[in-house]
Amino acid sequence: MDADSLLAWRDEFPIVKTCTYLVSHSLGAMPARTAAYLQEYADTWSRRGVRAWQEGWWEIGRTTGDLLAPVLGVPPGTISMHQNVTVALGVIASCYTFSGRRRKIVMTDLEFPSNMYLFEGFRRYGADVVYVPSDNTVRTNLDRLLDAIDEDTLLVPLSLVLFRSAYLQNARAVIDKAHRVGARVILDVYQAAGTVPMNLEALEADYAVGGSVKWLCGGPGAGYLYVRPDLASEVFPGFVGWAAHANPFSFSTGPIVHAEGPERFQSGTPNVPAMYAARAGYEIVAKIGVQAIREKSLRLTRRLIEHARRAGYRLNTPTSDAERGGTVVVDVPNAEAVASELLRREVIIDYRPGAGIRMAPHFYNTESEIDHAMEMLDAIVAEITTTARG
Ligand SMILES: Cc1ncc(COP(=O)(O)O)c(C=O)c1O
Repeated sequence: MDADSLLAWRDEFPIVKTCTYLVSHSLGAMPARTAAYLQEYADTWSRRGVRAWQEGWWEIGRTTGDLLAPVLGVPPGTISMHQNVTVALGVIASCYTFSGRRRKIVMTDLEFPSNMYLFEGFRRYGADVVYVPSDNTVRTNLDRLLDAIDEDTLLVPLSLVLFRSAYLQNARAVIDKAHRVGARVILDVYQAAGTVPMNLEALEADYAVGGSVKWLCGGPGAGYLYVRPDLASEVFPGFVGWAAHANPFSFSTGPIVHAEGPERFQSGTPNVPAMYAARAGYEIVAKIGVQAIREKSLRLTRRLIEHARRAGYRLNTPTSDAERGGTVVVDVPNAEAVASELLRREVIIDYRPGAGIRMAPHFYNTESEIDHAMEMLDAIVAEITTTARG
């Protein structure tokens, strides 16, 4: 057993006893207490019925967002909860018109595809989507991105950590440039939240979006949207429903009177079961502290990198700690087939075309699991190479 105090949390994550679980960049392990919280949801619905709305369900978006606030480094009362990142982005986009001079949406060509698809859809309203080319698939070109952000720029969607390579972007530089020219930055923190410490308030991020499926171990259906408090009262989202009204139970007809606070960005009825499901992961990550998770993550990802280097595998991920999130991307010959065989042997990773095999240790993983996964990888690569030659 590794001498590592975070391993005390392993008992809370049943799946890690059954396989080598190295896929927390995709689906974080489920905490045992999530089952208890979901049972609590069912019991509340069953026993309290409609009274549950007054007993915590109606405000559950706000209270769940507040649990997340310390992980993102933002004040309470600034996060609203949504189905997923795409919906949160749609709410932000609906705060703007794209008719004046300032209608450019600037992002790099390595952004997550949904960030592109959503804003591509807003071309019909006048948005001018500009992609800044990268030199390779691992890193974006910061100078080129900063040059592209100008007085015509409205929004800059920026992943803090790139999904394909785990490259940790320089959000400070992008936010500073955007603010100098009057543009707003939407930080997509999905691949960072829960494994890379952040203080979005100090960073002066205008908006931040993310979800809970990955490092937060919170499961699907709990996307989040942070809006800088002074900006929140200046924008008037168009994609809103009755839950965003200042006085929803007045059921007043005609135009909305926007609520203050996170409810301003709500659509309709909150996704109550997803909020119950997300709670345990948020509590655990906040209790451990993202700084401690990061230290362990760097230790384990360095171990993966050292092994990959010794074996001569191509690394499609930055090797310097300062530039890397929580994932290591290893490319090997026949990577897709190798990934399938790893899965068959209960080493849980994933494969992305153009990148390779993504491996992501979290606070519940051990050094021996890293060694086991890499030994399996070596064995499978050798077997597949021999078969291909024969
Ligand atoms: C950086 C990033 N943004 C967005 C998404 C997708 O978000 P959603 O499915 O919540 O819309 C992902 C999912 O993998 C991601 O890695």
